[in-house]
Amino acid sequence: MLATDIGIQGSDLLTLHDLSAQAILDLLHLSAQLAQVQDAPLRGQTIGLLFRKPSTRTRVSFEVAALELGAHSIYMTEDQTQLSRGETIADTARVLSRYLQALVVRTGAHAELEQFAKAARVPVVNALTDRFHPCQVLADLKTIREAKGTLAGLEVAWVGDGNNMLQEWMVAAARLGINLRAACPAGYDPDPQVLALEAVAEHPPKILRSPLDAVQGADVVITDTWLSMGQRDSEVKRQAFEGFTVDEQMMAKADQDAIFLHCLPAHRGEEVTDAVIDGPQSLVFEEAENRLHVQKALLLAILGE
Ligand code: CP
Ligand code: NVA
Repeated sequence: MLATDIGIQGSDLLTLHDLSAQAILDLLHLSAQLAQVQDAPLRGQTIGLLFRKPSTRTRVSFEVAALELGAHSIYMTEDQTQLSRGETIADTARVLSRYLQALVVRTGAHAELEQFAKAARVPVVNALTDRFHPCQVLADLKTIREAKGTLAGLEVAWVGDGNNMLQEWMVAAARLGINLRAACPAGYDPDPQVLALEAVAEHPPKILRSPLDAVQGADVVITDTWLSMGQRDSEVKRQAFEGFTVDEQMMAKADQDAIFLHCLPAHRGEEVTDAVIDGPQSLVFEEAENRLHVQKALLLAILGE
């Protein structure tokens, strides 16, 4: 498959809602073909990585993806740029567009990412906002398809916070016909605005309160930290998440061939036990590796000639 056949050259990726089901499946297909790219297809291109929050996987996997495609990357934190002294997002995006061929942005409010995308003249890729995390969910999809051989019709259980990961999963599940059941404590449901997105409203997740109901017979069990970046720890929140730790008893309710995913970083002993994350059903490190493979496909599809 040619990267240009996917039809997203020059496009932004703020959430998987920006892509058709076919484009998502094509990206997964392309990512499987790119293990050894020989000929530096993005030679001469420079990709900016502007991160306003910490990162291990996203930053390194994008840098390595760029390198393996023959492109150069420049990593910038907020304090290394004039954003820290009040230069506007729009001016920053306009200036960076004069130097770079794409801008990968990690920020808090999704509206800030939209401001980058609006002002930039080059494609903007979401490296995580408080609302969405598309690159991570692409990697999750690749991991699941490799393990299960399929995506449509699978039963996926989410156990935890109604956060950026669940919200991106809601979009991906709706696009691809995956049945998503999410157990969230009362008060920690996903954002109604994401539930109202057309694709999600047509194929909505089941929102439940009981983790055991959510995982019953599931093909995939997913969780994430109870405390996303930028959120303050509180006793109230910890109490709300009592009973939401994914442990061996909970995994035993899922299908016997169920797999466990977590975007990482994990807070071991909180949302997941060591026995599950290090256990035979866990594919968390394959999932982390797949960040590199899907982002290579994405960069090539957006920037390839
Ligand atoms: N999963 C993920 O996005 O990890 P980082 O915060 O380390 O990039
Ligand atoms: N929900 C987490 C994901 C980290 C990759 C966060 O936003 O911190």
